[in-house]
Amino acid sequence: MNLNKVFENNKKWIATKLSEDKDYFEELGKGQNPEFLYIGCSDSRVTAEDLMGLGPGEVFVHRNIANMVISIDLNAMSVVDYAVEHLKVNHVVVCGHYACGGVKAAMQSADLGILNPWLRNIRDVFRIHKNELNAIEDEDKKYDRLVELNVQEQCVNLIKTAAVQKAYRDRNLKVHGWVFDVHSGKLIDLKIDFVGILKNIMEIYHLD
Ligand code: CO
Repeated sequence: MNLNKVFENNKKWIATKLSEDKDYFEELGKGQNPEFLYIGCSDSRVTAEDLMGLGPGEVFVHRNIANMVISIDLNAMSVVDYAVEHLKVNHVVVCGHYACGGVKAAMQSADLGILNPWLRNIRDVFRIHKNELNAIEDEDKKYDRLVELNVQEQCVNLIKTAAVQKAYRDRNLKVHGWVFDVHSGKLIDLKIDFVGILKNIMEIYHLD
């Protein structure tokens, strides 16, 4: 791909935005007030704003391999803290996707070097839900289900943070688990029982 094309695209995008609203960039320059924090996969097919139909300024985004929320990941934890404590988002979304290469890699016996410790967290999700997953004979269905359970466990990881616990108590912050189906474009709400999980894990993880 000729990279000049990217800058051409940018010029066209500016012109389109200004034709719709001449003050568009002036407003954008004033600051952000996003309603959502979106934590998704780095996969190039899963673009937060596109799949939610939102534009610049509407969603604070963090992406990594397989949409993980790991308690010692300074990057993810800083994003959660900033979005929840400072931007005061009302919804935190973990969005996984079917056909996720990170989840697939974690289902295989292979030494992937530096990726091992990252993928280990997905293997831990498999171990926690081993009975359910091993009862699924169809490999593709098992793969899809691990994608969903990984989203669920990352929601649990969010609920373990002090920032989310405090914001839930103070202003009823919500945590959501979604899956994007790359085969159909459909966004699926896993309807994670946020309040139930919170109550269930509070005995051990209560921080605030
Ligand atoms: Co992925």
